[in-house]
Amino acid sequence: MEQRVVIVTGCSSGIGRALCYALHGKMDTKGRKLFRVFATARRLESLQKLQEDGIEAVACDVTAAQSVEACRAAVIKAAGAVHVLVNNAGMQATGPLVEQPIEHFQMVQDTNCTGPVRMIQAFAPAMIKQGSGLIVNVCSVSSYVDLPLSAAYNASKSGLLSVTNVLRMELEPLGVHVMTVTAGVIASDIGAKNVCDVQRYYDSGSAYGSMADAIKHRMEVLATSGEVMPAEEAAEAIAAAIARPRPPREIVTGARARTALLAGFLQKWLWPGVVERKMSRMFGLDNLRRVAQKQ
Ligand SMILES: NC(=O)c1ccc[n+]([C@@H]2O[C@H](COP(=O)([O-])OP(=O)(O)OC[C@H]3O[C@@H](n4cnc5c(N)ncnc54)[C@H](OP(=O)(O)O)[C@@H]3O)[C@@H](O)[C@H]2O)c1
Repeated sequence: MEQRVVIVTGCSSGIGRALCYALHGKMDTKGRKLFRVFATARRLESLQKLQEDGIEAVACDVTAAQSVEACRAAVIKAAGAVHVLVNNAGMQATGPLVEQPIEHFQMVQDTNCTGPVRMIQAFAPAMIKQGSGLIVNVCSVSSYVDLPLSAAYNASKSGLLSVTNVLRMELEPLGVHVMTVTAGVIASDIGAKNVCDVQRYYDSGSAYGSMADAIKHRMEVLATSGEVMPAEEAAEAIAAAIARPRPPREIVTGARARTALLAGFLQKWLWPGVVERKMSRMFGLDNLRRVAQKQ
């Protein structure tokens, strides 16, 4: 069978990095590699270890059109075609929406939602021409459930889910399959790379000053506390789905994913008020009301 060329975005750490290894290790029954893997990241030097381990590397910033085009040209020059595109690059910016720097909000939309569209517009035309291909978008349980202090991320991931569902209908007739990865909690650097400007909530004048510690806690514990799935385990599930002759429409992986999806269902369709009150308590927003009432 022909070796399939895969490009993965955001491979400097976490799920993307683990996915490159998982795909690189996939063999057919005769022991031949199923995939030729191109790992990408903003900083090429962050891919050095992957390169040393035999995975090809190309620089790609999904927020920069020139960088995406240079990446497309480099991969096509090296491999001649791309069969699978995995839109994995992503980031988080925690904080109450009203006081969040607008640049942080925009950066999250550009990375998590517009970035995948930029990649798809670059790579899908060749897939359409060849009449086959697979696009994998790494969405999140946050595409389904809305959490306080997470408006930027929620907006980007629910936007990406809509984009993914629309694309599936638009590309399927042309032979290109679209797969959603709905990720729960997975060990990665996403918390450490959170761009939250937490100091602003400690400064006088913030309406959220009384919960600055809670915001800091949220930012720091992201994907590091409670039940967390190792990135390698999630990557193996994604790689196995990609390797299937007929990849599924959607896979759910990561810790606490089913619980989060159930919460999202209850929030949207059954008991929105109950779920929102519970979440307010969980995130420390009920204290905010008490402090505001005393003033
Ligand atoms: N971990 C979880 O619990 C979880 C849950 C649901 C969904 N997800 C999603 O899974 C995906 C992978 O995240 P992760 O958890 O593995 O976090 P991670 O370890 O922080 O990895 C994110 C990757 O995206 C890259 N990236 C950020 N901005 C980029 C840009 N403009 N262009 C190209 N690459 C960029 C980062 O590169 P730099 O080193 O350059 O910053 C990094 O390689 C994300 O889409 C995330 O939203 C994660």
